[in-house]
Amino acid sequence: MAKQSYRIVALPGDGIGPEVLASALRVLDAVGVFFEVDFEVESISCGGHYYAEHETEWPEGSFEKCEAADAILLGAVGHEVDGRPVFTKPGKPYPEPQLAGFAQVIGNRKRLDLYANVRPVKLYPGVKHKIHGKLVQVWDAEKVDYVVIRENTEDAYTGEMEVIEDGRITPIRITRRATERVVRYAFNLARRRNKQRKVTCVDKSNIIGAHRFFRDVFRQVGETEFPDLTLDYAYVDAFCQWQIRSPEWFDVVVGPNLVGDIVSDNGATTAGGLGLAVGGNIGDQHGMFEPIHGSAPKHAGKDKANPLAAILSVQMMLDWLAARYEDDRLSRAAHSLEAAVAAVLQEGKTLTYDLIGEEKAARCSGVGIAVERKLREIV
Ligand code: IPM
Ligand code: MN
Repeated sequence: MAKQSYRIVALPGDGIGPEVLASALRVLDAVGVFFEVDFEVESISCGGHYYAEHETEWPEGSFEKCEAADAILLGAVGHEVDGRPVFTKPGKPYPEPQLAGFAQVIGNRKRLDLYANVRPVKLYPGVKHKIHGKLVQVWDAEKVDYVVIRENTEDAYTGEMEVIEDGRITPIRITRRATERVVRYAFNLARRRNKQRKVTCVDKSNIIGAHRFFRDVFRQVGETEFPDLTLDYAYVDAFCQWQIRSPEWFDVVVGPNLVGDIVSDNGATTAGGLGLAVGGNIGDQHGMFEPIHGSAPKHAGKDKANPLAAILSVQMMLDWLAARYEDDRLSRAAHSLEAAVAAVLQEGKTLTYDLIGEEKAARCSGVGIAVERKLREIV
């Protein structure tokens, strides 16, 4: 059932996070007006800069606010002091130091059980390509359109570490429960997309035993529950070069957490770069949406970062909320917003430095305004 009002928690975080999120929230505001939907947005200061000041990553009660929200929008975390990333102090609050901002990214993924990290690798026409440097034509764009599904709660990301005499051991944890649900998510997505109806399992199972288990579970679930789909397998090292050379081979890709982290950035290179890459952290009860580019401290405070990934996270959030609450206004909004972004890219005028170079570059805020204008034209 569609809701009267949707509660959104915004976590701007560090570096360029607040800037790109400001543009994204401006677009969300416009969506609210154009599609007559009420969004109640609460922004919570958090991340590494917050830790540096308060020795805690966010105000008390913030996690509970995330838990109560209909969706979360995250900017980026990772703050530097004197060129060094801020880590938490031992015992405050974790036994071992963690990147300050852990609570927002890794903590929320785990505590809200956001088990699938959905990262589309989709190229839009009009983008200057990061590899060959030419403007992308429609027929090129069609070759890059797949989705990476990254397991989002375990693997090397549990925060566990063992101290040994001569070093440290960080375990790779792969469980049946987490693997089954994420591969099911991937298989169901391949059915919904109805393109190649193929899912590629990417791992390092030729050498890592836990990854062999991941692949076995993938095969069992696929063969028994999804006989209509093609099951495909790749080792992550080889996959990285196929991603660059033959992206048209892929439809839905699934892998353990760290593998998914790496191949999603690698894929972004073929789809206009990190400035356009978006990720949805999705569970059965909660969703958190974010640009995957990180906080880029050296670009912070200059109003120059590309906000399109953050704007596309709003798009993904609308799409997810639309399905969850069967809200037709939101699915129209998601559709129109993607069209608006595509149009701004195609026109190629109001874009940031990463897409058209420093000389012609528009500001981060300017791109937000351009998308908002385009959206108004479309609706
Ligand atoms: C990402 C990021 C994070 C990750 C970092 C900031 C902990 O790189 O979302 O891809 O590794 O998951
Ligand atoms: Mn990453």
